[in-house]
Amino acid sequence: MRLLDVDAEMVTVELADGPARFHALWLRDNAQDEASRHGNDQRLFDVTDLAEAVTVVTAEVVDGRLVVEFGPDGVTSSWDAVWLEMHCYDLPGRHRVTGQLANPWTADGLGGGTGPYRLAWVDRDDSAVWADITRALQRDGVAIVEGLDTGHTGATIGDVAALWGPIRETNYGRVFHVRAEVNPINLAFTPRALNVHTDNPYRRPVPGYQLLHCLVASDVGGMTVLVDGFRAAEALRDEDLAAFGLLSTRSVPFRWSGDGFDLRNRGPLIEVADGGPAHGIIQAVRYNNRSAAPFDLSFDEMAEYYEAFRTFARLLHRPELEYRFTLAPGECMVLDNERILHGRHGEADPERYLQGCYLDRDWIQGRIVN
Ligand SMILES: [Fe+2]
Repeated sequence: MRLLDVDAEMVTVELADGPARFHALWLRDNAQDEASRHGNDQRLFDVTDLAEAVTVVTAEVVDGRLVVEFGPDGVTSSWDAVWLEMHCYDLPGRHRVTGQLANPWTADGLGGGTGPYRLAWVDRDDSAVWADITRALQRDGVAIVEGLDTGHTGATIGDVAALWGPIRETNYGRVFHVRAEVNPINLAFTPRALNVHTDNPYRRPVPGYQLLHCLVASDVGGMTVLVDGFRAAEALRDEDLAAFGLLSTRSVPFRWSGDGFDLRNRGPLIEVADGGPAHGIIQAVRYNNRSAAPFDLSFDEMAEYYEAFRTFARLLHRPELEYRFTLAPGECMVLDNERILHGRHGEADPERYLQGCYLDRDWIQGRIVN
């Protein structure tokens, strides 16, 4: 790291990827000195505690650290190059949201070409194996636990969930049952083919992860299809930025009602973190043709929105994005429900029976895995 320029309002340093400017106020707000940060890394002051005009008094690079003295409060703080690179906000096109672990895949690239990571249930207590599957989920958004029982004794889906955290119960119950029902409250509970989708976009918040445990497979049809929504959204951004812009900046409503509940939420189909359509990080995809409520955009935007919506929908059916496999009895797939779309191809055998449940995002996405 090399100091390039200093004035009262900003510091410019040469980082690994080029010159980067940092505002005086931003640096002061992120001061690392003991009076500014507790040992637990939480900030000890509020922005209103800072002077109206924070200035840089001196700045230099000492032993690989940027050291800045601020005015008027006289606080001095330092940062190493790694920290500055991680939080840098001045490099064009650079990912601006830290902590993104996802590595979007096409069908033949999932798991480096070998498909979803698989954990054998007998290895569940091995901490290295737990770390591997958790990392795989953070990276690929999908993994499979195999070697579970297929009957109603032994390990249940709740035991699989407990590898990470408590089941998030919904009005469908702690565990929901995916099988043909006489009076289904959801089309999932029929043998029909299901278009790829994410679950429950009508809930607020949307369930972060989903588990599906196969107890009885289908002899005919019922093949599982997975699509990485992040990869699909990236393809849309590359090919049609205007369509991506509409889908990521306009909210649409989702709704499910029945059984004493009327659940409603809304949001963009593609959720982009700060940075705008062209550069922002894709952080959630919601797509569910069954529970999309009537779009309520303005009359002037409706036709264009539908065009973008259809473009994205067609893209989700591209063979190179569809990872197809048959979930076998005793296997449980774990999915990032705001990223990986799932569906079933073909009419399933009415005997097919899966159990499902949800987990809040933090139990998997937020775990520290070394
Ligand atoms: Fe589903």
